[in-house]
Amino acid sequence: MNERELFLKHIAQTSPSPLAFEIKKAEGCLLYDTNGKEYIDLIGGISVANIGHRHPKVIEAIKKQLDAYMHVMVYGEFIESPQVQYAKLLTDNLPPSLNSVYFTNSGAEAIEGSMKLAKRVTNRTQIVAFKNSYHGSTQGALSIIGDEHWRNAFRPLLPDVLHLEYNSFKSLDEISEKTACVIAETIQAEAGIMVPSKEWLQVLRKKCTESGTLLILDEIQAGFERTGKLWGFENFEIIPDVLILGKALGGGMPLGAFIADKKRMDAFTENLVVILFVVQQEWLQ
Ligand SMILES: Cc1ncc(COP(=O)(O)O)c(C=O)c1O
Repeated sequence: MNERELFLKHIAQTSPSPLAFEIKKAEGCLLYDTNGKEYIDLIGGISVANIGHRHPKVIEAIKKQLDAYMHVMVYGEFIESPQVQYAKLLTDNLPPSLNSVYFTNSGAEAIEGSMKLAKRVTNRTQIVAFKNSYHGSTQGALSIIGDEHWRNAFRPLLPDVLHLEYNSFKSLDEISEKTACVIAETIQAEAGIMVPSKEWLQVLRKKCTESGTLLILDEIQAGFERTGKLWGFENFEIIPDVLILGKALGGGMPLGAFIADKKRMDAFTENLVVILFVVQQEWLQ
């Protein structure tokens, strides 16, 4: 069997007609197939290769790390310098309220984590998202993406999710003191690059502040200079409560993150106490 046949046989497929481009090498903005033919890559791994494929500095960092250690412990227990230094670099380039980074393996996982954070911080359950949005394919992320076509086959999904019209002032009236968080792409990417008005995002920010709702901005596509500024939200003169990053964050490595104020992020450190409390209550019944 040739590689194409093996690919179709052994790699789980997500579409009936995959591109099946047989890649040999990627360098800068170029891709090469197994016949040595050169292609200009206008996709960039869908917002991943913002600084090109195999950037020398990324390669150097990965090689250096391979010679030191790879996985050594579960998340958050050991002090691993590259992780600490990356969190510092990110937060040094963000507003002071975005000072604590939770790294994940993917964008969708960062979305999941941010929803859990909002529930813990607010003690509310309602999640507001927007029509035509895309936030990933895990069950939580799937629950909030804005297209029933993708959600339908996987119901039941997360309850208490409200899908509002993006960039509509009227829809914002639905945000209330029941809402744990509003999750929005700063610029809707998969919907066809839908740029909301500055006023709308500013009113959304105000509504969230007034109702004690966390504003979560998904910049998995809009971040890392893709709008001409380092962060997409800078174009709209607002600051989210939680910022979600992915794709270009890892420069080709699988990496996501959600970033919030440490006072809020500390809600995760108390999980054990809550579990013990719940278990105790159940025993007593
Ligand atoms: C805006 C946005 N959010 C979330 C995701 C999910 O990220 P991942 O594929 O790393 O899980 C994507 C991926 O395309 C995305 O474009």
